[in-house]
Amino acid sequence: MNPTVFIIDDDPDQVALVTAQLERGRQFITKGFTRADRALEELRADPPDAIVCDLVMPELDGISFVRRVRELNRTVPVIIATARGTEGDAERALEAGATDFVTKPIEPRGLETRIRRALEQAPKEALLQNFTQAKFDPHAIIGKHPLMQQVRAFITSVGSVPQVSALLLGESGTGKNLVARGIHTASRAAGYRFVEVNCAALPASLLEAELFGYEKGAFTDARQAKKGLVEVADGGTLFLDEIGTMAPELQAKLLSFLESRSFRRLGSTREQSVTLRVVAATNVDLAGEVARGTFREDLYYRLNVASQVLPPLRAIRSDIPEIARHFVKRAAEYFAKPLPVIEADGEERLQRYEWPGNARELRNVVERSMIFSQGPSLRIVDLAPAVMPGVSAGADMLTLPRGLTLDEVESRYIEATLKQLDGNVQAAAEQLGVSRKVLWQRRKQHGLLTGRE
Ligand SMILES: Nc1ncnc2c1ncn2[C@@H]1O[C@H](COP(=O)(O)OP(=O)(O)OP(=O)(O)O)[C@@H](O)[C@H]1O
Ligand SMILES: [Mg+2]
Repeated sequence: MNPTVFIIDDDPDQVALVTAQLERGRQFITKGFTRADRALEELRADPPDAIVCDLVMPELDGISFVRRVRELNRTVPVIIATARGTEGDAERALEAGATDFVTKPIEPRGLETRIRRALEQAPKEALLQNFTQAKFDPHAIIGKHPLMQQVRAFITSVGSVPQVSALLLGESGTGKNLVARGIHTASRAAGYRFVEVNCAALPASLLEAELFGYEKGAFTDARQAKKGLVEVADGGTLFLDEIGTMAPELQAKLLSFLESRSFRRLGSTREQSVTLRVVAATNVDLAGEVARGTFREDLYYRLNVASQVLPPLRAIRSDIPEIARHFVKRAAEYFAKPLPVIEADGEERLQRYEWPGNARELRNVVERSMIFSQGPSLRIVDLAPAVMPGVSAGADMLTLPRGLTLDEVESRYIEATLKQLDGNVQAAAEQLGVSRKVLWQRRKQHGLLTGRE
């Protein structure tokens, strides 16, 4: 069936023109609206496959419309039509959740291509739902331990101040990225962006250009002016991850930006001000870096005014079962498997382990075991025997060296399962939870087929 497209414009002539143009190609079924609120009602009753909407309308403008659409439907492509010269508005529409924009007068072929591309790229609603709706919140921060309560209080207070610099410290995998996003969410700066920059990913000069932007011709490759990320994050949150790796010359510029909240694009003399929250994070010992002279003391003090250490998992052992169950639930939804419970003494064993990789390691262990799990309970042997002290490799255990690729693990696991079941393909397929055909295909792919098969 041809996709249905809503066309919304307060000018009835424009609606008639665009619907006629789209219908002519016989690729789309169109429905025209001169009021965005009517389109919203219809969207609730019978959602279209795509929407083309004018930006400037008297009752409900395009940007508010997109926001309302996104509350109801996260995936339907929305293409905003703007008058030439209002690129700033187009950008705001994209930030509000629009998929793409076209400039008026609308060129029919161009619009068709954009709609088709947006339809192809639209994530599948069913897939997304698991992750985005109340059923499961990927950004949920789990834990009742007093140290986690302290983290929550920190999130609330930093989130309530629009102009603040905060520092998140903690070992790898303790949830710094998660908490940074939590701060942004707590701020209710809806429509404003959370901009994440990994300071370790770029050399200093490029990072500077990314952060503060540049004017055309500021350096050889600057063919066009570009907004800096501080401008993009204006009103919202700029997250500077791995701040400990920032080069000294850039540290000086960041300090001056944090103090004045104003900056100049590279190659520009114009000073611009922004209002934003800056959250920095690192898993290195920043005080130690200061002592060694690789991190500026003044910048450290500036950031350290509001700082929070995220506790390692071994410091909040009482929270481990709940966090583990959270990851089990998430993995079950992701792998579309029924939700298992963790075997009776499993949680206790998880609590005893040291978790050098913290929550991330726990998540990995849970996800790995969910791949192999069968039935209603998640067995402790499935929970990565290598990390479980006191669980020795018994007769029905398979011990694998670290450092294998997933492909190699699969190959060895299939091989071991078949061996254990004396080559009974039917039984092996059942145990592995795949059809005989899939098992045969995998064995073929891994070169595990015997001569006569
Ligand atoms: N308290 C928590 N509740 C739920 N999930 C958590 C919690 N802490 C961490 N996680 C999850 O663990 C994983 C690792 O967290 P995150 O990436 O935020 O760690 P990090 O501190 O930024 O690590 P690194 O220093 O290596 O960048 C993520 O999937 C995150 O969602
Ligand atoms: Mg991180």
